Amino acid sequence: MVQFNLPDNSKLVEGDYYKTSSKSNNIKNFRVYRWSPDDEKNPRVDTYEVDLNDCGPMVLDAVMKIKNEIDTSLTFRRSCREGICGSCAMNIDGTNTLACTKAIADVKGDVKIYPLPHMPVIKDLVTNLKNLYKQLKSIKPWLIKQGRNETSEENIQSRSEREKLDGLYECILCACCSTSCPSYWWNSDKYLGPAVLLQSYRWLQDSRDEERKERLKELDDTFKVYRCHTIMNCTQACPKGLNPAKAIAGIKQMIAQQ
Ligand code: SF4
Ligand code: SF4
Ligand code: FES
Repeated sequence: MVQFNLPDNSKLVEGDYYKTSSKSNNIKNFRVYRWSPDDEKNPRVDTYEVDLNDCGPMVLDAVMKIKNEIDTSLTFRRSCREGICGSCAMNIDGTNTLACTKAIADVKGDVKIYPLPHMPVIKDLVTNLKNLYKQLKSIKPWLIKQGRNETSEENIQSRSEREKLDGLYECILCACCSTSCPSYWWNSDKYLGPAVLLQSYRWLQDSRDEERKERLKELDDTFKVYRCHTIMNCTQACPKGLNPAKAIAGIKQMIAQQ
């Protein structure tokens, strides 16, 4: 397994200040967490002045402007800039959210940007999500039909069966919920966390799936599901307005009713 260097955040210091040459009266400061395994200057918080008259409305627009025009070394993930891919998840103004759907105008004062909390940082705003993906794989997030997985037959659902997936299928796996969950912070090696459990519930609710019994058996474990203490941080954090805490309660109920 590749071993990563990790930042010592107890040594977080004030970093560089990048002043703009713009004379605009619409300047906002973006204070961005920086850490690289390759230099001695960190962890630190750099401050970038951005002229909002010459910048798109979302936090991702500002982050991209900083990278394109001020400091090319700033590292972050992004792809769709439409709230679809989930890759631009970061902690903005104290809340886990998507940089592409977070309006700069909604942040009072300086915009503080950190990586998703309690995750190993690879560089700057990029965190290592390997554990979460491993956990996702473990719940088999795909349709399972006993003995026949060919695609030659349609898998029909009634309208009401399909409606049971509403509020679940929309999850973009951004990890904002899991990384805001205290139980996941402390037990992410064993507790699956809200993002993966919502995905799990999505397949448990799918009328076409024939693996429900086995899926529930796998989940019936002291840590995998029952580390959820209904603190609800996950539901508050979800930028897609989903309710992972409710999905987890649904799983617990299904296990109890087996
Ligand atoms: S409700 Fe459960 S999953 Fe959500 S934040 Fe609380 S402990 Fe975590
Ligand atoms: S439930 Fe919401 S916060 Fe959690 S991974 Fe899915 S979209 Fe992101
Ligand atoms: S860039 Fe895809 S969700 Fe933000």
